[in-house]
Amino acid sequence: MSTELDWSNLSFGYIPTDYNVRCWYRNGKWGEIEVSSSEYVNMHMAATALHYGQEIFEGLKAFRGKDGKIRIFRLDANANRIIDSAKGIKMAPVPVELFREMAIKAVQLNARFVPPYGSGASLYIRPIELGMSAQIGVHPSSEYLFMIMVMPVGPYFKEGFKPTNICIMREFDRVAPKGTGRWKVGGNYAASLEAGERAHELGYSAVLYLDPKEKKYLDECGPANFFAIKNGRYITPASESILPSVTNNSLQQLARDMGIEVECRHIELDELNEIDEAGACGTAAVASPVAEIDDIDTGVKYVVAKDGQPGPITTKLYNKLRAVQLGEEPDVHGWNTIVEE
Ligand code: PLP
Ligand code: COI
Repeated sequence: MSTELDWSNLSFGYIPTDYNVRCWYRNGKWGEIEVSSSEYVNMHMAATALHYGQEIFEGLKAFRGKDGKIRIFRLDANANRIIDSAKGIKMAPVPVELFREMAIKAVQLNARFVPPYGSGASLYIRPIELGMSAQIGVHPSSEYLFMIMVMPVGPYFKEGFKPTNICIMREFDRVAPKGTGRWKVGGNYAASLEAGERAHELGYSAVLYLDPKEKKYLDECGPANFFAIKNGRYITPASESILPSVTNNSLQQLARDMGIEVECRHIELDELNEIDEAGACGTAAVASPVAEIDDIDTGVKYVVAKDGQPGPITTKLYNKLRAVQLGEEPDVHGWNTIVEE
């Protein structure tokens, strides 16, 4: 069946597709993969996911390449990260092989929703795991549901690859210093909603959080990692409260491949005066250039893109990443999984 969607004008949001795949963990083991066409989950009202936030997720993408083939980008890195998230909040980890098999199946079953090459859109793959046991005591669930849904998406920031403004706000932290920030836990996003909405109301695309302990160093940038270019080097915050972004890791590798030095370290707020380019990176955000960073508590404005254009190194890294994802350039690091149709 052909699919008629306005591929080039998709936004980042939910669109129903044909199937999702599910697997239950019961009696200490994962069961068989189930294929479902229901958009709903039937769950007990006392499930731990609903009361105590036992919920983790992932986000990765599949692309239709120049050669017509479908590629999933960095499947294993995402499979490994959800294992860390599961361990972090005492959920049953999904074995890498099961994650792989289910992600590939979800893409194959919905292949007609993979946007065509050249549209700029992709198929977003959203795995989630939920604590399902009915209990009211605060302890880990004994039953889990792992499922993968997919949907075609366009750019996360509606501006696409154009610089946007972000802001610093000290009134809210999304995570605690030794809390769950390093894992992809639903509750982290609940904690970010108030600040995120305020930022949007003020015209900013995201909040650039400061480290939750000292409020001295840069941390995360909304649902993305932060990076900057300073004197030709790629710099990005090292912090135990940020999510280790697969996109950031990929950009660092691509930068090194280009002979650009990479520094993962604390970045003090003041250093924003010395950067030449900045960006927010993530699966959804890809590498979104930042124009200006406004500290709304002090009124200080750090103007990064003086001409309002994406910086040259950010542009080069963005283009390289897209080229690998779309099969336009060789996949020298083995990041793509080709999906047979
Ligand atoms: N940081 C947060 C809080 C995120 O939600 C995401 C999105 O996944 C990222 C960073 C970027 O991670 P990745 O590049 O693995 O998508
Ligand atoms: C992603 O980039 O995959 C994310 O998860 C970001 C956001 C949509 C939660």
